[in-house]
Amino acid sequence: MSKIVYITRRETFNAAHRLFRPELSDDENLTLFGKCSNPLWHGHNYTLYVTVKGEVNPSTGLLINLKDLSKLIREEVIEKIDHKNMNLEVDFMQGKLASTENLAIAIWDVLHRKLQEKFPHVQLHSIKLHETENNIVEYFGE
Ligand code: NI
Repeated sequence: MSKIVYITRRETFNAAHRLFRPELSDDENLTLFGKCSNPLWHGHNYTLYVTVKGEVNPSTGLLINLKDLSKLIREEVIEKIDHKNMNLEVDFMQGKLASTENLAIAIWDVLHRKLQEKFPHVQLHSIKLHETENNIVEYFGE
């Protein structure tokens, strides 16, 4: 019988953003989004947990080499967003409201596609994104 294991890789980054709808005034955006709508931007220290699942390879005892998983996350996500303004500079956030929800979904879409391409035996299970210690978003691809 095959055994399915789940592996989580943790990465961190910081990025600036602003939550706003351009058709609204600064005051209206402040009412809707609170401090995250500050017109002159602000940043967060994000912690990202990427969980993948699949069968252990009997000859290596591994699901995936964690170095390979880390490299993929770093190249496709971290290097593109770390120390950046996600509203202005990050390709996978263009045209999106820069909420933690949308960021988690965008990261899922990027990693899901790349994992299928490079490691088809590994499935993405979840993206968990901490915007602060107390605010956490999870996405399971639904
Ligand atoms: Ni914010």
